Amino acid sequence: MNERPIAYLQDVTKVYGSGRNTVAALRGINLQIDPADFLAVVGPSGSGKSTLLHILGCMDIPTTGSIEIDGEPVPRENERKRTQLRGEKIGFVFQAFHLLNELSVRENIELPRMFLRRNDGKKLPTAEELIEKVHMPLAVLDRRPTEISGGERQRVAIARALSNNPSMLLCDEPTGNLDSANSTAVMGIFDSLNHAGATIVVVTHNPEVAAHAARTVSLKDGRIVGAVGA
Ligand SMILES: Nc1ncnc2c1ncn2[C@@H]1O[C@H](COP(=O)(O)OP(=O)(O)OP(=O)(O)O)[C@@H](O)[C@H]1O
Ligand SMILES: [Mg+2]
Repeated sequence: MNERPIAYLQDVTKVYGSGRNTVAALRGINLQIDPADFLAVVGPSGSGKSTLLHILGCMDIPTTGSIEIDGEPVPRENERKRTQLRGEKIGFVFQAFHLLNELSVRENIELPRMFLRRNDGKKLPTAEELIEKVHMPLAVLDRRPTEISGGERQRVAIARALSNNPSMLLCDEPTGNLDSANSTAVMGIFDSLNHAGATIVVVTHNPEVAAHAARTVSLKDGRIVGAVGA
């Protein structure tokens, strides 16, 4: 008990644009994500789900309010420090995989840490360990993303997201481009990662996907309008 939260958001708002064209994407979000949490974020299109995920991932900053990751305030002014925090603490999984087709699966998996100068001395997992974590055979490491299926690509993208040993995995519609069998396989991987202690946030429109999470928050018009689960 008394563990430090992985993420802590207080009164977070996000306003895009200026003048007459402003959009209030988030309107006062309070949210705590604890170690080994598995959280689904649901809500209609435009309700602020991706905006929230980008702020959790230090890819964007709140207009007002504050956010801490692993007890460290995410700095508003210092973009270099934010990039460093993101590289060390965050793994991101996108709907459209975003793998580089010119590189092998191994190179894709190892890419994120080539840009990372870690100073916390944590040992990073090997490509072999990562590919096992996403339930794939080692032979896949030598293939290119164009030589594997969509479901396999998303599993490789998850392995890449784990490459930096992140504190939190953030996933924006990770099954949005997958059929139901592949969605089930990908969600099974999130389940086993979470059982092994990973902290996961999944944005989804799909209730079957949300059902894998231990708790769900619902967004509407930039506000949390419901919370279910632990
Ligand atoms: N870069 C941006 N500039 C201006 N407005 C934006 C920007 N990004 C998002 N918005 C607006 O902010 C609101 C929230 O957008 P967001 O992308 O967070 O919604 P979402 O819940 O992820 O929707 P979807 O389910 O369609 O992905 C929307 O009204 C959107 O049009
Ligand atoms: Mg979105």
